[in-house]
Amino acid sequence: MRRPAPRGEFRSSPAGAENRESSSRGNERQSTAGAPLSGQSTKFAAHRRAPRRTGAHLVLPRRLPAPPPGRLPPLPGSCTDARLRRALPRAGEVSGLDTPPGDLAPGAASRYPRAVVDVRAPPPKNLDGLRVVVTAGPTVEDIDPVRFLGNRSTGKMGFAVAARAASRGATVTLIAGPVALATPEGVRRLDVRGALEMRRVLWAALGSGLDGADALVMSAAVADYRPAETSPVKRKRTAEKLVLELVPNPDLLAEVGAARAASGRRLPALVGFAVETGTDAEVVAYARGKLAKKQVDLVVANHAGDSFGRDDNRAALVDAGGVEALGVLPKPDLADRILDRVAVLCHR
Ligand code: CTP
Repeated sequence: MRRPAPRGEFRSSPAGAENRESSSRGNERQSTAGAPLSGQSTKFAAHRRAPRRTGAHLVLPRRLPAPPPGRLPPLPGSCTDARLRRALPRAGEVSGLDTPPGDLAPGAASRYPRAVVDVRAPPPKNLDGLRVVVTAGPTVEDIDPVRFLGNRSTGKMGFAVAARAASRGATVTLIAGPVALATPEGVRRLDVRGALEMRRVLWAALGSGLDGADALVMSAAVADYRPAETSPVKRKRTAEKLVLELVPNPDLLAEVGAARAASGRRLPALVGFAVETGTDAEVVAYARGKLAKKQVDLVVANHAGDSFGRDDNRAALVDAGGVEALGVLPKPDLADRILDRVAVLCHR
């Protein structure tokens, strides 16, 4: 599936550079991380370019023969990750050239267990011993036993963060709003429904003195408002106009940020998200505002249209030091980039 052409491109920059950029385009900076900043109008375009960059020192066959049904393809024992990616069957034959490495054609998946085909660099175990709390999915605010207010979050980003954190050695507590996702391996999952319940469970996980966690990644799309009253019985339809009174929910992340600031502690490391609409510059500006207002270490800035329900995302990491534009990444890879920052924050 093709994603729509981006409305603009996040640009990496040190803090404050956007203002200088707007007055002088000649001061534009490139990504400090070498991440692609532009031209990735489709997910597949990004992957198509990868083999050209990686050189031609292959001793392995480019494609392995399709295995008999129910059997795994023979995997070369000593090859590097890059070789393995290129050698793995691709969707189409099992695959076609436009398919990202490691992806399989529909129908082929059952012959290739995900653990084998989903090849990534082995994760560094640099979260060993850390306690990471992740929130994910929407909160839903009940109107009555039948109806609720919700949002489009599916939880994929938060679940990816939880899964990658666990595989990198962290002890992970995942606080999830209502989502249709399986619990990642090795993760303790706590299901919640509304923002107030998420708040209670979050503070129980963090501890009132904030000594229960080393990091919080707040990827949940917490509802900003809830009905002033939840009816215990189903509201009946009438011919009259219905006005629903909403009251604001607490800002859970801002509460944790304020408590950490008051305590003088550096931990838990705090990561928030800013899912926005607008131009890239506006999205980054909103993220900067949230960084300051919520007193957190890092905000992941992204567009609503690039993130909700998708398996990939185009995000920028915004902190006091500046902006790192990441280009389009599968959510597990974006999770790793976020967790790289968490590791630095926890080990500084
Ligand atoms: N967040 C939160 N509690 C809320 C609302 C948001 O903890 N009641 C957290 C989210 O989990 C996210 C960050 O704050 O990490 C930003 O959420 P977002 O909805 O983008 O921003 P808001 O603060 O709600 O501001 P606005 O909706 O006006 O953009």
